[in-house]
Amino acid sequence: MSRPVAIVTGAGSGIGLAVASHLITKNYRVVIADLNPSTGTEAASSLGPDATFIQCDVSSYTAQARLFKQAYEWGGNRLDFFHANAGVDDRQLLYDGPEKEELDEEGLVKPLNTKSMQVNLEAVIQGLWLFKYYVRRSKEAGGGKGKFVATSSAAGLYFMTQNPQYTASKYGIVGFVRAAGPILVKEGITVNAICPAFIPTNLCPPQILALWPKEHITPLSTAMKAIDAFLGDDTMTGETVELSQENIYFRKCVDWANDSQRWVGEESQGIWDLGYANVPEKSGYGT
Ligand SMILES: NC(=O)c1ccc[n+]([C@@H]2O[C@H](COP(=O)([O-])OP(=O)(O)OC[C@H]3O[C@@H](n4cnc5c(N)ncnc54)[C@H](O)[C@@H]3O)[C@@H](O)[C@H]2O)c1
Repeated sequence: MSRPVAIVTGAGSGIGLAVASHLITKNYRVVIADLNPSTGTEAASSLGPDATFIQCDVSSYTAQARLFKQAYEWGGNRLDFFHANAGVDDRQLLYDGPEKEELDEEGLVKPLNTKSMQVNLEAVIQGLWLFKYYVRRSKEAGGGKGKFVATSSAAGLYFMTQNPQYTASKYGIVGFVRAAGPILVKEGITVNAICPAFIPTNLCPPQILALWPKEHITPLSTAMKAIDAFLGDDTMTGETVELSQENIYFRKCVDWANDSQRWVGEESQGIWDLGYANVPEKSGYGT
């Protein structure tokens, strides 16, 4: 029987590289996917023959679709694990002063840079879409069950005023895994997220690293505790796991405001299912 196969995005450094390395110790063959060809190649060669590098900008749907096809073929028509981990912080500050505001030729305000939404959220959603396709087609090669993990952030549970678009993208991941997790597990795909606190990586500007108190650092090993929890339980799904210092915390949805909201959340699902089942073209619903 063939060995399980994983893709980890943003695995050229930091959390992604550590997860890729950890998966190899768990018998996986791993595709290191990263935008940066030099760190990506170096990371893959440091991990030996069980890893390969595929260059990919996950913010391009076509590039990510190519990544999945190549990885599946490299894995012997098999894919078992996908960690949507690549991430960037905000590339333009929402609050920049009037001197930074620009108009286009038509006199319209130029859009805010939302690259962090494309990389951190849109690519994660498309990643699950692609992952599901290939997991369904992995049975003959010995697979057919899937583990999907996305890297959110503590900013996806709290917030970072310095990075509002980033914060929105990381909150988006939390909602996404909570919504999709309980459904996809029915076909053997678990969907979970990690929400790291401060882990010193290349993402962090060096001037911040220099100032950061050591007692508020979360080690990379804490991320592996969450990965192990996901690997070890085929029913664990829809979870958002906060990583802080040495500990992992399974974070729940906010409390119901009142009993009516609890009813809407817990007991109205049949009505929603019926309503959506009767809509022939979902895309036109509500328009
Ligand atoms: N380090 C932390 O404290 C921390 C905290 C919370 C969340 N996170 C999240 O963890 C994830 C990993 O970050 P990290 O801390 O390991 O940083 P990192 O900079 O070491 O790694 C991020 C990797 O993503 C790659 N990348 C960036 N844009 C990409 C794209 N469009 N396509 C493919 N690859 C791309 C980079 O080249 C880099 O190798 C990110 O999603 C980040 O938001 C990190």
